[in-house]
Amino acid sequence: MTTMLESLMLFHFLSLILLCCISPSSPFSVNIDYSSYVACHPNQSQALTEFMNEFDSSHCDLSKPYNGVWCDKSTSAVTMLQLKACLIGTLKPSSSLFRLHHLRHLYLSQNNFISSTLPSEFGSLSRLEFLSLFNNGFVGQVPSSFNNLSLLSFLDLNENHFSGTLNSNSSLFKLHHLRFLDLGSNSFTSSLPYEFGNLKRLEYLSLASNDFSGQVPPTISNLTSLSELQLNHNQLTGSFPLVQNLTMLSLLNLGDNHFSGTIPSSLFTMPFLSYLDLSGNDLTGSIEVHHSPTPSRLEHMYLGNNHFEGKIIEPISKLIHLTHLDLSFLNTSYPVDLNLFSPLKSLLHLDLSGNSISPASLSSKSDIPKSLEILRLSGCGINEFPTFLKTFQKLEFIEFSNNRIKGKVPEWLWNLPRLTTFSISNNLFNGFEGPTDVMVNSSMKNIFLEQNCFEGAIPVLPVSIRMLSAKFNKFTGSIPRSICNCRSLTHLKLPYNNLTGPIPQCLSNLSVVTLRKNNLEGIIPDVFYIGSPLRSLDVGHNRLTGKLPRSLQNCSSLEFLSVDHNMIEDTFPFWLKALPNLQVLTLSSNKFYGSISPPDQDSSLYMVHEEINYGVLYYFNIEAIDLQYKGLSMEQKKVLTSYATIDFSGNRITGQIPESIGLLKALIALNLSNNAFTGHIPLSLANLSNLESLDLSSNHLSGTIPNGLGSLSFLEYINVSHNQLKGEIPQGTQITGQAKSSFEGNAGLCGLPLQETCFGTNAPPTQPPKQEDEEDEEEVLNWKAVIIGYGPGVLLGLAIAQLIASYKPEWLVKIIGPNKRRNC
Ligand SMILES: *[C@@H]1O[C@H](CO)[C@@H](O)[C@H](O)[C@H]1NC(C)=O
Ligand SMILES: *[C@@H]1O[C@H](CO)[C@@H](O)[C@H](O)[C@H]1NC(C)=O
Ligand SMILES: *[C@@H]1O[C@H](CO)[C@@H](O)[C@H](O)[C@H]1NC(C)=O
Ligand SMILES: *[C@@H]1O[C@H](CO)[C@@H](O)[C@H](O)[C@H]1NC(C)=O
Ligand SMILES: *[C@@H]1O[C@H](CO)[C@@H](O)[C@H](O)[C@H]1NC(C)=O
Ligand SMILES: *[C@@H]1O[C@H](CO)[C@@H](O)[C@H](O)[C@H]1NC(C)=O
Ligand SMILES: *[C@@H]1O[C@H](CO)[C@@H](O)[C@H](O)[C@H]1NC(C)=O
Ligand SMILES: *[C@@H]1O[C@H](CO)[C@@H](O)[C@H](O)[C@H]1NC(C)=O
Ligand SMILES: *[C@@H]1O[C@H](CO)[C@@H](O)[C@H](O)[C@H]1NC(C)=O
Ligand SMILES: *[C@@H]1O[C@H](CO)[C@@H](O)[C@H](O)[C@H]1NC(C)=O
Ligand SMILES: *[C@@H]1O[C@H](CO)[C@@H](O)[C@H](O)[C@H]1NC(C)=O
Ligand SMILES: *[C@@H]1O[C@H](CO)[C@@H](O)[C@H](O)[C@H]1NC(C)=O
Repeated sequence: MTTMLESLMLFHFLSLILLCCISPSSPFSVNIDYSSYVACHPNQSQALTEFMNEFDSSHCDLSKPYNGVWCDKSTSAVTMLQLKACLIGTLKPSSSLFRLHHLRHLYLSQNNFISSTLPSEFGSLSRLEFLSLFNNGFVGQVPSSFNNLSLLSFLDLNENHFSGTLNSNSSLFKLHHLRFLDLGSNSFTSSLPYEFGNLKRLEYLSLASNDFSGQVPPTISNLTSLSELQLNHNQLTGSFPLVQNLTMLSLLNLGDNHFSGTIPSSLFTMPFLSYLDLSGNDLTGSIEVHHSPTPSRLEHMYLGNNHFEGKIIEPISKLIHLTHLDLSFLNTSYPVDLNLFSPLKSLLHLDLSGNSISPASLSSKSDIPKSLEILRLSGCGINEFPTFLKTFQKLEFIEFSNNRIKGKVPEWLWNLPRLTTFSISNNLFNGFEGPTDVMVNSSMKNIFLEQNCFEGAIPVLPVSIRMLSAKFNKFTGSIPRSICNCRSLTHLKLPYNNLTGPIPQCLSNLSVVTLRKNNLEGIIPDVFYIGSPLRSLDVGHNRLTGKLPRSLQNCSSLEFLSVDHNMIEDTFPFWLKALPNLQVLTLSSNKFYGSISPPDQDSSLYMVHEEINYGVLYYFNIEAIDLQYKGLSMEQKKVLTSYATIDFSGNRITGQIPESIGLLKALIALNLSNNAFTGHIPLSLANLSNLESLDLSSNHLSGTIPNGLGSLSFLEYINVSHNQLKGEIPQGTQITGQAKSSFEGNAGLCGLPLQETCFGTNAPPTQPPKQEDEEDEEEVLNWKAVIIGYGPGVLLGLAIAQLIASYKPEWLVKIIGPNKRRNC
């Protein structure tokens, strides 16, 4: 009895708990009588304890209001269980969870169910009405046994890795009681079956951020209770979905698909619709807003990146409740007259980027609502600073990048009381009106001046500033000492200017410092204290001398350190190994000297040199912060920053490829070609599950190609030609689809795509033996993602490292503008 009580206490089941996100009063919760708790039956609390013990549940803080367990008064059985963000482990089919047959409400979100599939045993929880498995890392398909959960009214599978197709037989379509269904942010691929129309009680449906394709079935019009429909970020095609009769809709998000044709005018008479996102489609035609007894309630409307042809602003100006309006990249051929927005008295955010704006409407006589807080006019062909903004006291954010505005930044700008972000990147500005301290008292926090024609000294910055980005200008003189008075400054980016003088002493208080390609002199100040927030320091291509400051060891947040192309004279900085987060280290073209193997190691791999010009290391310094500010999603940010390639090609590196290469999990491309590597291809390469390109050609590698490479599903390019490899080429589709030339010039490879068959040969499917002097080599790459570059062609044992944060150039140019100096 004591143990039972103890386990009951463990779950705090007696504490009166209201739930944060799904409170018992939420429309989607289960009707459980929370006021009368009873002790759970021993067999139930035992099952619960066993369930908890299947996982590392040490992080389950049961005093948190969203965690808890509830038992039913009459049966003493567990009817409700909530455990958020604390379980780590695999959810097994044998889990004791599936003994809790009386569960009606199960909330297990944000746990780490490592690569678990959904056990079909969920089907045994046939009393479930509420099931939230949001953000858990589940993989695989939704099991067919889900059709047993016929009472389910709430199902949240958002943010997992579910895949596969939904066909007309899918168990989900048997769940006729569903009112809430969220399959968003998974990897479902398929068209949308007509059977979606079976889920007549749905009030909320999200299929966003998957790979659904094809047309939206007409049966969607049967979901007449729908209040929110999110189909954004898929590959859906066809004409506008039949949503006109979904009169309860308040939110419709079809953004980032391939819908074409025109927008039905009935959208603007839907009585409850307040949020409409159609951006990023191929919609054409004009927009009609008819007079209606139920005037539109639209507040948020996002129509950007479509192919509208007609004059669409005039009708939009009838939607008088609009607060957020995105009409960027409308693809219209006539200039937009800003005065058409004057009826929108509630407008807060307006984005007209990518459209030409009628010059007259930028004058001081413009009649635009003064309520505006955010105005984006990027790429609008503007020649002169819009003077009408002078009286806009509520402005917080101005974006005028990618225009052709000349002259000086007006003095009145710094007096706008709420302005915190100001971007004029990629224009032709050459200076600032007013005295050098004109901006010192302004409220400005983020200033983007990149790619203009600014000359002369950098002005005294606003005391409140957090971020200054001014690359590709012609600022001269030294970095003003006054920046050390800016206690909120975290990002200082002044690369590609003509600054001289020393690096200021206060930079250890910043988190991102980019001073690349100037003429700075002196030493890098040795001022880094314990707890310094520094994440990125780039002082490459200057005239810095002295040693690398040893106090950099204190910067435990440092991820990016680039001092290439200076005159730094120092031994190889093995001491940087102490920095746990360092990912990119660029030392090329300096005067580093000495051994490049760790002092306490006797490594045969590297030789000692008196003086080494550490080589070229290319990278594109695209910090997350640039992208955040441009309003890109987290997802794109992640993709951008995790793209990594190592290129050590074209050198004379000898020895074996260290097995520890398999630790560089983020690698997208590895190029070790044209060296003198010996030994076997490491088995651990098969652990680089993101690898898309692998070039090991022209080395002296022997043994077989590890079978695991056949299962790297992203591998698009592999080249192992001109080695001494033998045996069977692994037969995965990614490999056999390669060109023959990728395998030629080896001692004895056989199998597709080569013509030599393995039949009859004695090709043993052997795997390479464990490498002998592994210990020594581990040391090199145990710097985890620290990738070290050495100069090309400088004797044995040196390599070029290219670490490229790669990206899709087309859209980056659209977002950030061309990465070069303007012709002033
Ligand atoms: C658990 O206890 C309940 C209530 O007494 C009982 O109905 C049920 O059969 C028991 N289940 C098991 C597996 O012992
Ligand atoms: C479906 O639920 C019933 C009870 O309603 C149960 O007997 C049956 O085993 C469940 N089926 C599966 C596949 O779990
Ligand atoms: C659905 O199930 C029926 C009967 O089980 C089967 O004949 C049909 O091929 C299935 N359809 C799909 C799309 O799987
Ligand atoms: C569901 O939609 C289809 C296609 O729009 C229609 O033919 C069918 O009658 C609808 N069913 C019901 C029950 O409304
Ligand atoms: C919408 O409702 C009207 C009237 O009820 C009906 O005539 C029309 O067919 C419906 N449209 C769709 C697409 O379901
Ligand atoms: C509109 O888009 C089409 C297709 O992308 C393009 O060819 C055309 O030049 C664009 N027109 C304008 C005015 O932007
Ligand atoms: C900034 O504010 C300070 C203190 O209020 C004042 O002394 C100074 O003159 C102001 N500077 C400018 C340029 O307005
Ligand atoms: C930088 O300034 C020096 C003189 O201080 C000048 O010779 C040089 O051309 C300038 N470089 C650039 C890129 O403007
Ligand atoms: C760094 O910031 C701390 C705390 O704000 C401050 O005390 C210190 O003076 C600053 N150091 C420099 C060099 O600005
Ligand atoms: C690290 O910072 C502390 C002050 O926080 C300083 O005393 C120490 O010298 C620094 N370490 C190095 C190696 O410079
Ligand atoms: C690897 O680098 C060499 C140059 O050394 C280049 O020719 C080759 O194309 C690169 N391989 C890949 C896959 O990019
Ligand atoms: C791949 O990684 C796993 C886990 O990270 C590890 O246990 C395994 O030894 C690695 N395989 C190879 C061949 O390195």
